[in-house]
Amino acid sequence: MKILVATEKPFAKVAVDGIKQIVENAGYEMALLENYTDVNDLYKAAADADAMIVRSDKVTADVVANAPKLKIVVRAGAGYDNLDLPACTAKNIVAMNTPGQNSNAVAELAIGMMVFMARNQFNPGTGKELLGKNVGIHAYGNVGKLVAKIAKGFGMTIYAFDPFVKKEVMEAEGVVVCNTVEELYAKCHYVSLHIPANEQTKKSIGYDLLSKMPKGGTLINTARKEVINEEELVKLLEERVDLKYATDVAAGNQAELTEKFGTRVFATPKKMGAETAEANINAGLASANQIVNFFKTGDTTFQVNK
Ligand code: 3PG
Repeated sequence: MKILVATEKPFAKVAVDGIKQIVENAGYEMALLENYTDVNDLYKAAADADAMIVRSDKVTADVVANAPKLKIVVRAGAGYDNLDLPACTAKNIVAMNTPGQNSNAVAELAIGMMVFMARNQFNPGTGKELLGKNVGIHAYGNVGKLVAKIAKGFGMTIYAFDPFVKKEVMEAEGVVVCNTVEELYAKCHYVSLHIPANEQTKKSIGYDLLSKMPKGGTLINTARKEVINEEELVKLLEERVDLKYATDVAAGNQAELTEKFGTRVFATPKKMGAETAEANINAGLASANQIVNFFKTGDTTFQVNK
């Protein structure tokens, strides 16, 4: 049984070693494809794989077609918008994610970006503090919850909007619940985005919503660039010279944003949210364990294409 770890953006070595150990202890073999730049390398590596562990690597219908033995693919992470679920389902391939495993890393980055933007990217004489400001958590899932918890320590007031989470659950955690997404943006100096990228959410954060933010408002995006309407963002940043945008992965039009708006915008060089040894270990080892459990016991917990 061959378990392929295919990561264009590699895991920390300690995580790869841990995955290998779990796989070999189960009597299977691990294959490793890292830093690939040509999708043909992925096709070749997938040709004899029974299982795959990926990060943001795109598992397209073509990848699936080139992996005739594939029975399970695990996205080591939360967002599985990189998996072609219908293509997997059509070939009876179980697709899973590892929810919660890298959440703390992403939450810490969201807060770090908030500080960085409040301090005007460390330009002297222009910084502000987070104490006493309102932060809006747009989607109160594993990451949103942790951002709320850490932001409380900064003395921020926490607001949240999430139609899929019970009001009482959020209130019990000291969060002010907003009934509409517009209310969240209107109340908060900082909004931290934690929605997934899907057909309902793509390009859903645009001019109308963002223009509701109070003076000096900053949007922090550690979710997906696809949820932003980038053309509308440019229009708004042109009109509202007080607003700022920080994103964990460059926008499609990042060069234009940087040229036009300088330190009012910031993008990490690569998606950095889960780039910690801890997150790699948590998500990588969970993926390996989920695969072993699936083969040994048929366990399909965390399957996302049921
Ligand atoms: C996730 O959805 O878990 C994060 O975006 C992490 O993505 P990465 O594994 O590509 O860093």
